[in-house]
Amino acid sequence: MCGIFGMLGQNAVADTLKALKTLEYRGYDSAGIAVKDGNGIKLFKTVGRVENLKDAIPSEVYGTLAIGHTRWATHGEVCQGNAHPFYSADKNFAIVHNGIIENHLSLKYQLSSVGVDFSSQTDSETVAHLLQKNYKNSVLDSVLATANQLEGSFAIVVANTYDDNLYAIKNKSPLVVGINRDGAYFCSDVRCLSRWVDKVAVAPDNVVAVANRQSVAFYDFKGNPVSVKFFAVENAEEISGADGDYMLKEILEIPEKIRQAKQGYFKSGGLSLPAKTVHRVKRIYLIGCGTAYNSGLEAAAIARKMLSIDVIPVIASEFIYDNYPVDSYTLAFFISQSGETADTIRAVEKVREQGGFTYAVTNTQASSLCFVCDKVKNIYADGEYAVASTKAYNCQLVTLLLLLTDVSYLKGAIDDETRKKIVESIDVLPTAIDKVLSNSYQIAKLAEEIKDSSAVFFIGRTADYPTACEGSLKLKEISYIHSEAYPAGELKHGTLALMEKGVTVVAIACDSLQIDKMALSISEVATRGAKVVCVSPYSFENTALLSIPVVNRYLYGILSVVPLQLLAYYVAKRLGRDVDKPRNLAKSVTVE
Ligand code: AGP
Repeated sequence: MCGIFGMLGQNAVADTLKALKTLEYRGYDSAGIAVKDGNGIKLFKTVGRVENLKDAIPSEVYGTLAIGHTRWATHGEVCQGNAHPFYSADKNFAIVHNGIIENHLSLKYQLSSVGVDFSSQTDSETVAHLLQKNYKNSVLDSVLATANQLEGSFAIVVANTYDDNLYAIKNKSPLVVGINRDGAYFCSDVRCLSRWVDKVAVAPDNVVAVANRQSVAFYDFKGNPVSVKFFAVENAEEISGADGDYMLKEILEIPEKIRQAKQGYFKSGGLSLPAKTVHRVKRIYLIGCGTAYNSGLEAAAIARKMLSIDVIPVIASEFIYDNYPVDSYTLAFFISQSGETADTIRAVEKVREQGGFTYAVTNTQASSLCFVCDKVKNIYADGEYAVASTKAYNCQLVTLLLLLTDVSYLKGAIDDETRKKIVESIDVLPTAIDKVLSNSYQIAKLAEEIKDSSAVFFIGRTADYPTACEGSLKLKEISYIHSEAYPAGELKHGTLALMEKGVTVVAIACDSLQIDKMALSISEVATRGAKVVCVSPYSFENTALLSIPVVNRYLYGILSVVPLQLLAYYVAKRLGRDVDKPRNLAKSVTVE
């Protein structure tokens, strides 16, 4: 969940700072850069954003080799001393690292016993001292020796004073390598690189990369050459600074991205699994984390309206360590906007070990998830930079609905006419969502009324409950207000005790079969003093109603979440929060 970058080429300082700005979505507790010039390696680092780092670098500093880092703290508090890069004691090496060195304590003990002093509380600094200790007269040998001593997940970029190469060590954390005619780049994600390079490669695990101005060579940890395929990089959109917040921009893009998700699904071949493979499927998992898990929850609720086999949503970090049954009749969808979430990728490995079929549903081409799954489907939401996921959730739901509709049809659970009706019904969504967006002034007004709530509960039944989960996650992660999601029928079994003046309840009531039950749940909480907001195509007493258009029952999860995304955004803005980079979080959690 940190961002790492390294480059050989002109304007290394300016371009590294640009890259770090783009990588800030991966962590922004601190930032740092190390620049190699004629007199060794100069290192600058600050707490907070890249802007602070820019101010700390004297204008005359120039170099053609630089490494940089934006940090999301895992080991060691947020302070200047724990910011990357780290020097070796003799300052002949400087490193940046993303991941966790799991054996860092034993390595630290060994190094300290031979007199090495540590300047930080981090696991990463260990690498810099190991490089110095392992150096005899070849930097590559020192890097290989160091790589073999590390356990855990790491993407490390190394600058040194002995030669003009840039080195990287990669295992389990993301590392993309880019080249153009006069330079080479190492980076955490492909989008950040695309503005400089013509070709990229995704470094495989257990590899050392050595870059000079002309080429990049790869070696396994034994020093044997490894060939790695480069491919042309589609110019990911230039990540220009959005005026205002990425989160609002990305919510406003949802209607168009839903069109793109549907078009992209068919243009890329649809489900594209052989009918006989689908026919023998006896169990489907929908596995992900956070918002990606919530989209799996919602997709499973919809799939249960079509399929009679088990469709089971599971949180990836639970799946890894629990004993969910998997066999060759198992189809597992892995949902991940970034395609780099460590828990989700570990879950893929578990399903593969047990003979299941793994199907990635992701927003990021060339991400690690794409390389470990049997099949990949893009959701075509384009770059999503706000930490709070919005348009990707809506596009995940569109893509999962299409996938599960095709699975249901191939398994004979629905006929072709039903399938066609579901597919066509998606076309009304962009207009329906535009209507909700045009009502944003009412949502902003409501935000003002609920921003000081002591707690906010989101409730719903059946396919509205996953929407409640997603609405609750959106609100808490950017406003920092305590929030929980509950199946509406569950309140009376305990949580009702928490209802009092000052509490807000957001009821999602789109299921026409649950109207009376939802009215009952709403009156249960309203009579105990809670303020009730209701998102529904129907009207309910004792509530502030956020009305949404009537759509096909399969589509309410994609539509009814939009007022909740906006509500979270406006509440957080009114509380003065940084909606794009909320505290303690990162956009992509690449450690378990
Ligand atoms: C959602 O708003 C959060 N940013 C977080 O829960 C996120 O959905 C989760 O970490 C999964 O990320 P992924 O989709 O990139 O795997």
